[in-house]
Amino acid sequence: MAHNVIILGAQWGDEGKGKIVDLLTKSCHGVVRFQGGHNAGHTLVIAEKKVVLHLIPSGILNEHVNCFIGNGVVLSPQALLKEIAELEKMDIDCKNRLHISFACSLLLPYHAAIDKAREKVLDKNKIGTTGRGIGPAYEDKVARRGIRAGDLLNPKTLKAKLKALADYHNFILKNYYQAETLNADNILADLLIAAETIKPMLSDVATELDTYRLNYKKLLFEGAQGTFLDIDHGTYPFVTSSNTTAGGAITGSGFGPLYFDYVLGIVKAYTTRVGSGPFPTELQDEIGKRISERGHEVGATTGRARRCGWFDAVAIRRAKQLNSFSSLAMMKIDVLDGMEKIKVCVAYKHGKKELLLPPQSSEELANCEPIYEELPGWQESTYGIKEFSQLPENAQNYIHYLEDIINTPITIISTSPERDDTIVLDNPFIGSVNTESVLYF
Ligand code: IMP
Repeated sequence: MAHNVIILGAQWGDEGKGKIVDLLTKSCHGVVRFQGGHNAGHTLVIAEKKVVLHLIPSGILNEHVNCFIGNGVVLSPQALLKEIAELEKMDIDCKNRLHISFACSLLLPYHAAIDKAREKVLDKNKIGTTGRGIGPAYEDKVARRGIRAGDLLNPKTLKAKLKALADYHNFILKNYYQAETLNADNILADLLIAAETIKPMLSDVATELDTYRLNYKKLLFEGAQGTFLDIDHGTYPFVTSSNTTAGGAITGSGFGPLYFDYVLGIVKAYTTRVGSGPFPTELQDEIGKRISERGHEVGATTGRARRCGWFDAVAIRRAKQLNSFSSLAMMKIDVLDGMEKIKVCVAYKHGKKELLLPPQSSEELANCEPIYEELPGWQESTYGIKEFSQLPENAQNYIHYLEDIINTPITIISTSPERDDTIVLDNPFIGSVNTESVLYF
């Protein structure tokens, strides 16, 4: 039974972490975001109502948990206010349950303006960012010129820091990108208004989390994006600007490495990717179109169509190596219903070599050809199934086959977007719920 669990995407994001976080939140006391910003998009369906969260941890929908935004997140005050207002409209209280680290770097309108101007210049070579300003906000943080959430407490220093930042970014916008400059006074005015809402929520998150630990309370660390969008380990440069892998949970929250005891990776039963970059198992045919339509594969943040492809076991082997997954949750198995054959990429062909792990360079990855194993599909519907034994035999075989080739148990299987349509063989916070799980790895 675990106390401190990391949940993160094992592919290129959009695996469906929000639903699993929401499900497991019932069994924990606090949910923590530790990287990324409002580029993330978690779509949750509760009582047939759709909620999309970008910045606030999905745990906020469960009244008994507190939510934390750790220092590793880049925080857009405007996006935060918008989300709080939307949640309050649904009678969900944020202000008393959301705690934001003083050390969060702020994401300001300059960052989005630069993000967009840069993508425009890159043209065909663009990263395909969400345009939210995530990269430029992290650049300011690393360059040590950023404004942090704690600066909202002191309007005088805030004004001075903002002026310096405005001069710097306006110079670049105007002279390098020939783009429109932004008015620092307007940004300051908006910031001062936002500060009134944000200030009471600011806290020393590292100390709060440590207090939870000392009181044997359970914490869930909610990753955003996915393993192959990690700034160091992903398909660089087609990545986001933070560490999306398990290590990010440590540095992005201030919770010590030895205090974590479970890492749950989330995979889809197939693979998707938004934005540019190599994607070895991508399907640009009728099957890809079918997966995209059945899976409603449209980005939650930008509304862009997601690229779709077969399950890539080579990528997941790397994801396991990087994240030390204790187990995996598999989402959207129902999307594969009715397929005659299902392919799984078991290795890559790279020149004359056969690779079981992906190469680290995107250029090399783009030259890899997937080697597939073909499995029989199933014609029955898996939609809404809640027991493993009720799954069609070939769906069970598909899951067991993947467990075998990636050497990791699949302990949660999601069969529809609804919270309750989930097969839970093992809940990290509670332990084994059902002995059908192959927990011998
Ligand atoms: P950025 O994070 O906006 O800088 O975008 C960098 C890359 O990460 C692009 O390929 C985006 O499509 C991708 N990305 C960022 N956030 C998400 C997400 O939540 N899901 C999937 N892809 C994302």
